[in-house]
Amino acid sequence: MTLPALAALACPNCGQGLDQADRRLSCPGGHSFDLAKQGYAPLLAPGSNATTGDTADQVAAREDFLSSGAYDPLLRAVAAASAADAPGVVVEPGCGTGHYLAAALALDPAREGVGLDTSKYALRRCAKRTVPADLLPGDGEPRRAAGTQARLAAVLADAWNRLPVRDGAAAAVLNVFAPRNADEIARVLHPEGVLVVLTPRRDHLRELVDALDLLSVDPAKPQRTADQLGSAFEAERADEISYSIGLGREAVRRLVGMGPSARHHGAAELDAAVAALPERVDVTVSATVARWRPKG
Ligand SMILES: C[S@@+](CC[C@H](N)C(=O)[O-])C[C@H]1O[C@@H](n2cnc3c(N)ncnc32)[C@H](O)[C@@H]1O
Ligand SMILES: [Zn+2]
Repeated sequence: MTLPALAALACPNCGQGLDQADRRLSCPGGHSFDLAKQGYAPLLAPGSNATTGDTADQVAAREDFLSSGAYDPLLRAVAAASAADAPGVVVEPGCGTGHYLAAALALDPAREGVGLDTSKYALRRCAKRTVPADLLPGDGEPRRAAGTQARLAAVLADAWNRLPVRDGAAAAVLNVFAPRNADEIARVLHPEGVLVVLTPRRDHLRELVDALDLLSVDPAKPQRTADQLGSAFEAERADEISYSIGLGREAVRRLVGMGPSARHHGAAELDAAVAALPERVDVTVSATVARWRPKG
């Protein structure tokens, strides 16, 4: 089977386009890459740091937590913001399991996607990602049949290095709780394309930050995001999404286990802290979903 979005991909060594024969991708410059058994394409550029990706435990926790629907308002906002008139694919650096990317693709039957990540555990799931059901409220039904395989290429690549994506090939780039390399995003985005950035707000998960000593959102983050993006992009709109969800201890454990704090506290330490919580905790979810356009 031909890898979805193949025409949008580029050789990580020389930047030329890729062809596919059986399970091998190759460029005219003689570089070749065999698809992994689990379906993802290993396109790490020379000098990449492939050790930054989420662990198997983090990815399993992420899959379980996200599939519970607890972040669906964020999912809908990201998918809706990704609508673009430009030709091209949807690209997500730091795509994780492809949860948000598949939702963006569900809105348009003609779009294909490229999910980039350094976690093989995440990419294995991303390569098998299906189109989500029940994506939008009311009449905003997903236009692709729920449950079918999402048309996306899962790609092993370092978001801080040159992305294995051709210049201007992306109609939309998603950036959701993930590394943000503004220069590379600007290079791969079509001039009429849209960049969708989800950033946590200060009060995101605040009850858990206090109770479990989690890493908190840096108050300087909005300014830093604006500084990073401001030279290449113009802000088009920003929507604030805030709500409260009641989570049982198991859900809290997954939520904490999928995030950066899982790397800072040991599993046993987190288990003990979560066990000491009340049976149900009301947790604030709070994020900004912003649309940016390339500067002309
Ligand atoms: C907090 S998770 C978010 C995943 C996904 N966007 C979501 O919200 O479900 C961050 C993701 O970035 C990936 N990641 C971390 N460093 C990376 C890098 N340098 N290049 C590509 N992906 C990276 C991790 O493996 C992880 O899947
Ligand atoms: Zn090449």
